[in-house]
This record gives sequence, C-alpha cells and structure tokens, in this order.
Amino acid sequence: MSGRDGGDEPLDWKAFLADFHRARAGVAEAVLSRATAGDHSPYRWLGRAVSADAETIVDLAAGSGPMSRELARPGRTVVGVDVSEAELALAAERGPGPWVRADALRLPVRDGSVDVVTSSMGLVVVRPLDDLLAEVTRVLRPGGVLAAIAPAVRPLGPADLLTLGQISRRLRAKPRFPGPVELAGFHKALEAVGLTRVEDKRERYRFTIRTREDAELVMSALYLPTTRRSRVEAAVEYLEDRLERAESVEIAIPMRRVVAIK
Ligand SMILES: C[S@@+](CC[C@H](N)C(=O)[O-])C[C@H]1O[C@@H](n2cnc3c(N)ncnc32)[C@H](O)[C@@H]1O
Repeated sequence: MSGRDGGDEPLDWKAFLADFHRARAGVAEAVLSRATAGDHSPYRWLGRAVSADAETIVDLAAGSGPMSRELARPGRTVVGVDVSEAELALAAERGPGPWVRADALRLPVRDGSVDVVTSSMGLVVVRPLDDLLAEVTRVLRPGGVLAAIAPAVRPLGPADLLTLGQISRRLRAKPRFPGPVELAGFHKALEAVGLTRVEDKRERYRFTIRTREDAELVMSALYLPTTRRSRVEAAVEYLEDRLERAESVEIAIPMRRVVAIK
C-alpha cells in the first residue's frame, strides 16, 4: 500500500502510530479479545500455533500484552516488545512481562536465542516487512518458528460486504495499515530471509455490536489517518440506526495466520 494519503503530503505513519497508541492504548485488544470464530478469539488462534514446549518467545508489537497472557505457561518466558510507552504501561498493569520498549526492527535480543516469535498485527504495522523478517530470522534459533496473525480482506460473506461497504461509504475511506494489504509479497519475503512457510490459513472473526459504545469502540480501533471526526461519527450513527431495527450488528474481521520455520 502506498505511504501517501492520496493528497500531496506523504503520510507520516510513524508519528500517526505514536499518537494513536498514546491516545488509545489497549484499543486493539479491546476489540480483538471480543472477536470470535467458534470458540476462540484471534489471540487464542495464534496461541494454538505455538508448540507447548517453546520456552523462549518474543511477541512483537505486543501492545497491551494479550499474547503474553495467552501464551503464559510455567517455565516459559514471553518477552513483549513494543515502541509505545502507553501500550507497555497498560501491558505491565495486566501481566508480569517482561516488557521491552524497542523497535521490532532492532531487537535487543541475541542471535539465534529464541524458540518462537509471535506477532498479532505486527506484520502489517512494522515497516519495511523485509527488514522485520530479517530481524525475526536473526533472533530465531535454527528450527525456531515465526507465528503471526494479520488482518485480511477475505473470507467475507455478502452480508459482511454490505455492512463494511456502508461503513466505508460514511467514512469515505477504508481503514488502512502501514504495511502491504493482504501481506503482498510475503511468501517471497520469507524465502529471501531463509524462512520456510509451513502454514497460511484464514478465519472469519465477528465482533457483535449491541450498543452505541460498541460501535464507537470498533470505529476507534481503526487506523484512519486522513479521516475527519465527522465521518467517523457518521459511521457510528449508521450502526446506531441499524440497532434500532435489530438487536445487534455483526462486523466481520477476516484474519490470516501464517507460520514459518527457520
Ligand atoms: C494494532 S496494534 C497491535 C497490538 C497487539 N499485538 C494486539 O494485537 O492487541 C500495533 C502495535 O504495534 C506497535 N508498533 C508500531 N510500530 C512498531 C515498531 N516499529 N516496533 C514495535 N512495535 C511497534 C504499536 O505501538 C502497537 O502497540
């Protein structure tokens, strides 16, 4: 995806992300922990890709730390890494850590010392993806595993497309990420750093909106770097109108889980 917003000015994603996560720490977890597919959240799905005997795990772009809590086991260390002080402060309130403030592109971690690297959403947030994968490969031991989840554009059903289309109409924009849509070029990028793909799966999660607060929560979790507040308000009002005619509105969140081995 382009780093430009369609206007003349290049979008400063670094500054946008820093402000966003300072002001809205924990918002990704607030939404994704309530998103379900069958019996599980996306965090549980990612956790299921991690071997029970993994002892040293680094979770990249850890945010408020949901993966550290998901993966916690006796005898295991899960190091949560993030650049946002506000996210890490929240993570520290919620779990024991360790929490490390660092750029995922420059991990303060020894070469070949990690069993598993996980990331929920990090692959579409940390740029460039090639450099991120090179850093992941550096810290993984031979036989170590990268397991990550990222937002996707499918699977979506007709009703999902209708609701998401109506929301985009109100926003006059689509939510965006700094990284490539659908992880374009991901398989080649894995090969380039010597990681072998062992899994690439998709799952449709749903977030159920029952109140205006739910609608506001979902909308506030989206990266909409060039969208005016009034547009977001229009999207919330659309969802609120729907709630006058139905008990709830479902928002689909398609996700992709990728696993690769060094
Ligand atoms: C969408 S949130 C995901 C948080 C968490 N993994 C979750 O799924 O709830 C993205 C996170 O990436 C972090 N982040 C952005 N750029 C980063 C970088 N270069 N290195 C480490 N973390 C970064 C942000 O601070 C934010 O906490």
